[in-house]
Amino acid sequence: MKIAILPGDGIGPEIVAQAQRVIDVLRDEGLAVTTETAPVGGAGVDAAGDPLPEATLALAGTADAILMGAVGGPKYDTLPREKRPEQGLLRLRKALGLFANLRPAILYPELAAASSLKPEIVSGLDIVIVRELTGDIYFGQPRGRRKNAAGEDEGFDTMHYSVPEIERIARVGFATARQRGRKLCSVDKANVLDTSILWRETVTRLAAEYPDVTLSHMYVDNAAMQLVRNPKQFDVIVTGNMFGDILSDEASMLAGSIGMLPSASLDANQKGLYEPIHGSAPDLAGQDKANPLATILSLAMLFRHSAARPDVAERIERAVHRVLAQGHRTGDIALPGERTMGTRAMGDAVVAALREAR
Ligand code: IPM
Ligand code: MG
Repeated sequence: MKIAILPGDGIGPEIVAQAQRVIDVLRDEGLAVTTETAPVGGAGVDAAGDPLPEATLALAGTADAILMGAVGGPKYDTLPREKRPEQGLLRLRKALGLFANLRPAILYPELAAASSLKPEIVSGLDIVIVRELTGDIYFGQPRGRRKNAAGEDEGFDTMHYSVPEIERIARVGFATARQRGRKLCSVDKANVLDTSILWRETVTRLAAEYPDVTLSHMYVDNAAMQLVRNPKQFDVIVTGNMFGDILSDEASMLAGSIGMLPSASLDANQKGLYEPIHGSAPDLAGQDKANPLATILSLAMLFRHSAARPDVAERIERAVHRVLAQGHRTGDIALPGERTMGTRAMGDAVVAALREAR
């Protein structure tokens, strides 16, 4: 299989380099995998004047899967919207039809104390947020700026979801729940938004096809509150693009650090883009401080979903678990006073654990 590697900006290249070392170990052992690297985000702007250069899109289109770092940085903050690094990622998701974003939030027992919540609230946490990724207010037209009737400048965006869009993401939610605890919570704002009323009707209708899954509904404000009050009540959450963006950042803190959370963005045929859910952290870039584990765990997801190699995925996940059990910590997951290590040293530890666990 061929993996397109898009390191991106900030800490992106450093963390992706550690995942690349994991790929190298697997390839040395005989796994048939090739990689090719291309710029995206600010790196795309620097290389080709476009956050998603044509050659990068072509590579992503022909590869079997994509591993991405992160995009964005202060250097690009003043560019017009269509040149901003984030647009590279959004266009890539849209162009490849990557509508299903899986964001698992798992708390490794060793990190219970690193979570911002009390250990008894979060220990054993294992939830998945299924976020719709190619629709909603992120892509809705019309959008822009205009003068309102009073002659004032205003900005506007449009939220919308079609029934087929809701159905296909709801099906991913139901199917995901079916493989786990069989509980699906659909999150919307149906007390206010027409889009959400249709969302709720559609998800409810589909539930008849999944009698073995218990469906519940929750308003997004309540869901944000319940996630910190009692997160273990959830198994799988399915929601729209914007609500999912917000709730998945919130859920990441339950898992100790946003530096621990991987994600998969899948099309209808299990082709996917895999990336940590965190950003490019320009303040940490180039300092060998970033946590590479979310990227390495994203690579595990790649093997599970796009390579049909759950055995390889589990082996990578076991290696990550082992380095945590051994006490290895980057700064973001260390307790005050605990010894920390750098990005590359964490990569060393994972590679060593992987070799042992062959
Ligand atoms: C994410 C990020 C992106 C999003 C940004 C970088 C466009 O926050 O993947 O969650 O909003 O989807
Ligand atoms: Mg986000």
